[in-house]
Amino acid sequence: MTTTRELGRTGQHLVPMALGCMLMGTDTPEDESRWILDHFTSEVAPRFAAEGGPAALPMIDTADCYAWWRHRGGSGGDSEELLGRWLSAPGRRDRVFLATKGTALIGDLDGVWGPGESAEPDWALARGRFVGAGRQILRDSLDASLRRLRTDHLDLYYVHVDDRSTPLEETLETLAGFVADGKVRYLGWSNVRVWRMERIRALCEKHGWPQPVALQQQHTYLRPRAGLGNASIVEAELLDYLRERDDLTLVGYSPLAKGVYAPAKRAGHWILDESYSGPDADARFAAVDAVAAEVGVTPTQLVLAWLLHQDRPRVLPLIGPRTREQYEATLPALGVRLTDAQRAHLDGAGA
Ligand SMILES: NC(=O)c1ccc[n+]([C@@H]2O[C@H](COP(=O)([O-])OP(=O)(O)OC[C@H]3O[C@@H](n4cnc5c(N)ncnc54)[C@H](OP(=O)(O)O)[C@@H]3O)[C@@H](O)[C@H]2O)c1
Repeated sequence: MTTTRELGRTGQHLVPMALGCMLMGTDTPEDESRWILDHFTSEVAPRFAAEGGPAALPMIDTADCYAWWRHRGGSGGDSEELLGRWLSAPGRRDRVFLATKGTALIGDLDGVWGPGESAEPDWALARGRFVGAGRQILRDSLDASLRRLRTDHLDLYYVHVDDRSTPLEETLETLAGFVADGKVRYLGWSNVRVWRMERIRALCEKHGWPQPVALQQQHTYLRPRAGLGNASIVEAELLDYLRERDDLTLVGYSPLAKGVYAPAKRAGHWILDESYSGPDADARFAAVDAVAAEVGVTPTQLVLAWLLHQDRPRVLPLIGPRTREQYEATLPALGVRLTDAQRAHLDGAGA
């Protein structure tokens, strides 16, 4: 059984796989979402508390913008509201490690959905309209998240998208205030470049503000296509940086690359076209298929197991099942033990 993950060097231990709730309240209906949340917190988490080490909490991840894009006219908050209803039952709040994010709400949704009944928003337009990380925006966003989540504090609050138009000092001082006020225990950043992260850390050091302890980036077994330059996807430079910074935990979102390790989903999937396809991905898929067959698990389970084995840097994979069936299909990964030879085969594959 995989052991717990410490969040940075905070002493807070977590179940080694986090549960993403992005689709809860939109694609995933309320009763199915509640089943997954109940199972993760009541059936999976206790397995890690019983190991004799420090008790581990299950991390539940959401954001204030989830998931406006899943229904025309949506403006976000569906996931937080559903979680708020679920968390309001006695005793639940203290049994989870609750993480949410601000800054990626869309300030003006006018025109983002395009004309007619188009099912997909215009992402290029939307990305240009993030509300950002200004002082008042952050304060209002945090209070709104706390209201929707029906709690008086968050365990982890992330800046969801880096905002270069607001001075970092303004953002960091505001975040430090959240911690001082007891509204937030720990801070994190997401979708941010390595050099910005280093600057954030230097400013926190200089001003005595709390350092971020979590970095949430897109991370899976496939590697981004050479030259892609996407600030959100983990690359070799970030891994190297994190090896030197074990007080910062890498939380890997989209660990299943939207499910493409399932052979039936690979052909023509948008995420491959957008970020991964090419000879390196072909070699990585071949390695996953070979080792999965050897171990006797699905390629999807194998990829999660590989992520759970990462220790330099440590990785906390953040799954995002849309259905109960998908959630249940990922759980066996927690019990997979890979041999050194299998890990070497996977690590060495590529073009
Ligand atoms: N910080 C950020 O910017 C950011 C961005 C994205 C996500 N996140 C967080 O990370 C979490 C996970 O991200 P993600 O949803 O992109 O993760 P993911 O696990 O890579 O993708 C989830 C999708 O994979 C498919 N899937 C899940 N389990 C499967 C299984 N066992 N077999 C086959 N397919 C499976 C489903 O696709 P279908 O729906 O097509 O069936 C599901 O919607 C989110 O819930 C959210 O909390 C953060």
